[in-house]
Amino acid sequence: MIEYIQLHNWKSFADAKLFIEPLTFIIGTNASGKSNILDALYFLSCLSQGDTVDECARKIRGGQEWITRLGEESFSLEIKVHQEQTNIDYYYEIEVIRENEKFVVKNESLQRNGKVAKNYLFQTIPAKEQMLLPVTTYTGKKGNRRRWDLYKEKSILSQFALQKIQKDVSEGVTFVQEKLKQIFFLDPMPQHMRDYSSLSKTLKEDASNIAGVIAALDVQEKESVLKRLTEFVRPLPERDIQKVWTETVGMFAKDAMLYCLEEWTSEKEITLDARGMSDGTLRFIAIVAALLTIPKGTLLMIEEVDNGLHPSRAKELIKALSILGEECGLDVLCTTHNPVLIDNLSGEMIQNISFVKRDLITGCSTVSLLEDKENLARLMAAGTVGDMMINNQI
Ligand SMILES: Nc1ncnc2c1ncn2[C@@H]1O[C@H](COP(=O)(O)OP(=O)(O)OP(=O)(O)O)[C@@H](O)[C@H]1O
Ligand SMILES: [Mg+2]
Repeated sequence: MIEYIQLHNWKSFADAKLFIEPLTFIIGTNASGKSNILDALYFLSCLSQGDTVDECARKIRGGQEWITRLGEESFSLEIKVHQEQTNIDYYYEIEVIRENEKFVVKNESLQRNGKVAKNYLFQTIPAKEQMLLPVTTYTGKKGNRRRWDLYKEKSILSQFALQKIQKDVSEGVTFVQEKLKQIFFLDPMPQHMRDYSSLSKTLKEDASNIAGVIAALDVQEKESVLKRLTEFVRPLPERDIQKVWTETVGMFAKDAMLYCLEEWTSEKEITLDARGMSDGTLRFIAIVAALLTIPKGTLLMIEEVDNGLHPSRAKELIKALSILGEECGLDVLCTTHNPVLIDNLSGEMIQNISFVKRDLITGCSTVSLLEDKENLARLMAAGTVGDMMINNQI
């Protein structure tokens, strides 16, 4: 899994590092830089799809004008990725520069288990004003290096993923590339979830096709997903939701709709399709269903995760994120402004809160772990972390 991301001259960050745990919360006031961090992960995931650096830059919130820190022409991003089976740590870094109004790769490297030169798997050689970027691959053994000339327009990682290269370089490239492809930004849009959706294996970012994704599962898997989904969604309204399910429609059963059964009194049950469900219910269903259906190993990012949710249901959300996140082998990275949500986190989870703020002298965003905060013990003796958020003490 991705263990950290380091940002250098990216948007509002001069130099900062975010540690990513199985469940991580990012807090901070408006415009502190929370979404800018998620944008960086999104940018890396875009590159891994094989898009050009410039295309990826355009896809970022605010467009390519705003991806480098004001006054800078280049930025770099570094991630550490741990491979459990082999116990190998990979360090991947990419530096991007604006050249003739387009963003291209300036430097890129992949290292293994440490940060000394002999552990480079590949490394670019600085080159000016050329279409191609020289790259050296190493197998770790002296003399066994190879020189390549690759395009600056795309990440070297994505180009190597298509090349026949030395075995250990290829293993590292494939693994890191796969981890980047597995970054998923979920932004549930209740209004998009109310329609019929096509059967599909891939969830869309706005969760508009959640019914189609569940309906496309094989019978057994669908049954277990719907059972788990119902369990977690049940306590959301004042009276329980008895059941959540999907049904296909049409002669070819190619589209599906989401349904739930609400029980308001012992005599009064309502079967609702997604068109009649509340916004909060749909958002919650989207989050739980995403946790249950996206591939194992995914880094799931959710902005303002508790949006539309009643404060008394914060603990249900945390339960879903932590239990299902672990059960389904995902890492979950969320932003929130909600002190109630933060106050429902267990002591152990509080260690995974990072706070983002602007440095009062430089104006740059900084990221710190809450547990490293000076005076934390004193502040927590006087109130909760939620109180600290409300009183702007973080
Ligand atoms: N290229 C850049 N250089 C310097 N600062 C930038 C750049 N791009 C954006 N910013 C700063 O980042 C801020 C926006 O940050 P971001 O969107 O991450 O905020 P946020 O913490 O998610 O806030 P909210 O809680 O309101 O969503 C802007 O107000 C601006 O000050
Ligand atoms: Mg934001």
